[in-house]
Amino acid sequence: MTMSYFRTPPTLLTGRGSVGQIGKEARKLGATKVLIVTDKVIVQAGLLPYVSKPLEAEGILYDVLDEVVPEPPFENLEQMAEKIQDNHYDLFIGIGGGSVLDAAKVLSIMITNPVNIRELVGTDKVAHPGIPTILVPTTAGTGSEVTCNAIFTDQRDMVKKGIVSPYLLPAVAIVDAELTFTVPPSVTAATGMDALVHAIESYTSVRANQITDGIALQAIKLISRSLRQAVFNPHDVKAREEMALGSLMAGMSFGNAGVGAVHALAYPLGGKFKVPHGVANAMLLVYVMKYNVVAHLPKFAEIAKAMGERVEGMSVREAAERAIVAMGTLARDLGIPTSLKDVGVTSADLPAMAQEASQIDRLLNNNPRWLTVKEIEQIYRDALGE
Ligand SMILES: [Fe+2]
Repeated sequence: MTMSYFRTPPTLLTGRGSVGQIGKEARKLGATKVLIVTDKVIVQAGLLPYVSKPLEAEGILYDVLDEVVPEPPFENLEQMAEKIQDNHYDLFIGIGGGSVLDAAKVLSIMITNPVNIRELVGTDKVAHPGIPTILVPTTAGTGSEVTCNAIFTDQRDMVKKGIVSPYLLPAVAIVDAELTFTVPPSVTAATGMDALVHAIESYTSVRANQITDGIALQAIKLISRSLRQAVFNPHDVKAREEMALGSLMAGMSFGNAGVGAVHALAYPLGGKFKVPHGVANAMLLVYVMKYNVVAHLPKFAEIAKAMGERVEGMSVREAAERAIVAMGTLARDLGIPTSLKDVGVTSADLPAMAQEASQIDRLLNNNPRWLTVKEIEQIYRDALGE
């Protein structure tokens, strides 16, 4: 067995009502002056009191910074860091979707690592631990509350770039499904598919191990049996709870085993075509699975089983291909666009997109089947319908 780390936040608090404990958790961390990092959507949705009330009950002072923008550019972070750097906060609480949580994580290390943010891009470029954080997701998707990664847009070249460091892990992650009840169906579908991609890509990653496999398979099971209900009946509490847990577990798995070609190929769609991350992943998943399936037939057969497909009596290969069919059906049921044409991509765009995706070794190196720029362009062509 190859040596591997398994990293996850020291405290995971889950279940209905868990966010009500946030004041006590802040107190345990010795917080006296807290910054709540969020965005305007969360404030308008009325979710802030879930965090602010328990802080008030503990008599902990807090300020609110609601300036995170979706898929945040570096400039957004620099402006926020400048605003808060002299305020001596001793705890950051991030409440929101993946963009907010990523911003809260990175703001915490920007305060203790006063260098240009671009110097932090890459793996293990962060020298010092940040201000402690508590992260509270309000969507079931990104898993950002349990990963060492944060993704931003570089507006100089419109490329998505990642900061990866164990110092991005929060002190506490609180996953309370109640915060996801008001998420609209289109966002539930996109973020839920993102979580499913995390589980599938980490399960089939070359860095997967027995620990991440167990977590990933359970995540695939929870997400594939509950995503439709969560989208089509947003008030289905059990489905929302299973999605929240499934997303958390998918995050724990991919935070350690990594994600692969789906995420690498999705980056150019997010950067240049502004396709939401979950939608970009969902559009590419079936095509990447078709390419990857021969590289690990038994694992793809296990995915089919975890998705509830009937595979008794099938050969391993038939069962593995069943996973691809099931994934296509799920994406169609959820109304995910089926062709890259639907998001404005033309065949003339493909060579540059393939070139850009081929540079993302950090992710491509995890993929179960080797790809060069030629294979990447072919996958894009398949996804375009040519
Ligand atoms: Fe993702």
